[in-house]
Amino acid sequence: MTVHRPTHLDATLDRTVVLGYSRIGFRVRSRAWPPFPPQALKGRTALVTGANSGIGKAIAAGLAGLGASVTLAVRNTSRGDVAAAEITVAVPDAALQVERCDVADLVDVREFAARFLGKTDRLDMLVHNAGVMPTSRTESTQGHELCLATHVLGPLLLTELLSPALARAAAAQVILMSSGGMYAQALHPNNLEYRTGDYHGATAYARSKRMQVALTPALADHYAGEGISVHSMHPGWVDTSGVATSLPKFHALARPLLRSPADGADTAIWLAATDGLPSGRFWHDRRIRPEHYLRRTRDRSADRDRLWQFCAAATGLAIG
Ligand SMILES: NC(=O)c1ccc[n+]([C@@H]2O[C@H](COP(=O)([O-])OP(=O)(O)OC[C@H]3O[C@@H](n4cnc5c(N)ncnc54)[C@H](OP(=O)(O)O)[C@@H]3O)[C@@H](O)[C@H]2O)c1
Repeated sequence: MTVHRPTHLDATLDRTVVLGYSRIGFRVRSRAWPPFPPQALKGRTALVTGANSGIGKAIAAGLAGLGASVTLAVRNTSRGDVAAAEITVAVPDAALQVERCDVADLVDVREFAARFLGKTDRLDMLVHNAGVMPTSRTESTQGHELCLATHVLGPLLLTELLSPALARAAAAQVILMSSGGMYAQALHPNNLEYRTGDYHGATAYARSKRMQVALTPALADHYAGEGISVHSMHPGWVDTSGVATSLPKFHALARPLLRSPADGADTAIWLAATDGLPSGRFWHDRRIRPEHYLRRTRDRSADRDRLWQFCAAATGLAIG
């Protein structure tokens, strides 16, 4: 099997950050990529969270364009319906369903999963895309810090609840949309809820994206027996309303360099559409990337175990 390691040029782009994460990196790398075969995902089913805008909408459109039947899981179905209508303009025969799910609310996740399993027997692709960057410490309905709830707890619970449908697929893929921001953050196993220290939304965001990457190998092991692969990835710097709202200065400065949502969606679509990839790895621009560049972010297996046990307890799942 092909080992998806970066070339020297590709790795150098990654280390420069600005070149690699911007539209420049995407342009350079994507020149070598073959197009997806038409209807590559015909007959497959996908679920994308936070699919009403930005990268999530582009992922849903890309998967639908390859023939998949796609559920847009959104917290506001009016916005979801608008997104579905826009996708249908680009992909007239798109098979789309819009469902309400607030992934930060664990009760809502359980209700959504029960509804979904009542309608759908098999799920081939589950893309945990929904993301937030709060301006001040905010708690979910169950009292968890919002980045933790949205990026970690909700996705873990949803994956586990939908695992029977994922296990019925020939080779199901679960994708966690992380961020390059996680490179700056270590795990904080004693402060996963960010209850101590000055709260910064960007730090909370990056810590929770680090948790996604740290959990990916354990999730891959956990689901290996059911034939479910788990990947984390980062999309690069993408021009979305989320970035414009949460990071207005960065958005204004970097805008000419930002990728389009379709560029940011590419690796998720590629992961979902490519069989035989190794599970449990961190990806960017269709290549496995290092999980750490800085010594200070490296975690111990005991820290990852504590994170796993914490998540199991917080979600009420017997995944320990
Ligand atoms: N853009 C970038 O440069 C970049 C870089 C690295 C990683 N990412 C990641 O990529 C993903 C998409 O980001 P984006 O830039 O496309 O952001 P975006 O335009 O703000 O989209 C985020 C989506 O998530 C949804 N969402 C937020 N909380 C939710 C919840 N509790 N339940 C369900 N849906 C929820 C939002 O729904 P509403 O419309 O209801 O708010 C929205 O549809 C995020 O995970 C983000 O962290 C983005």
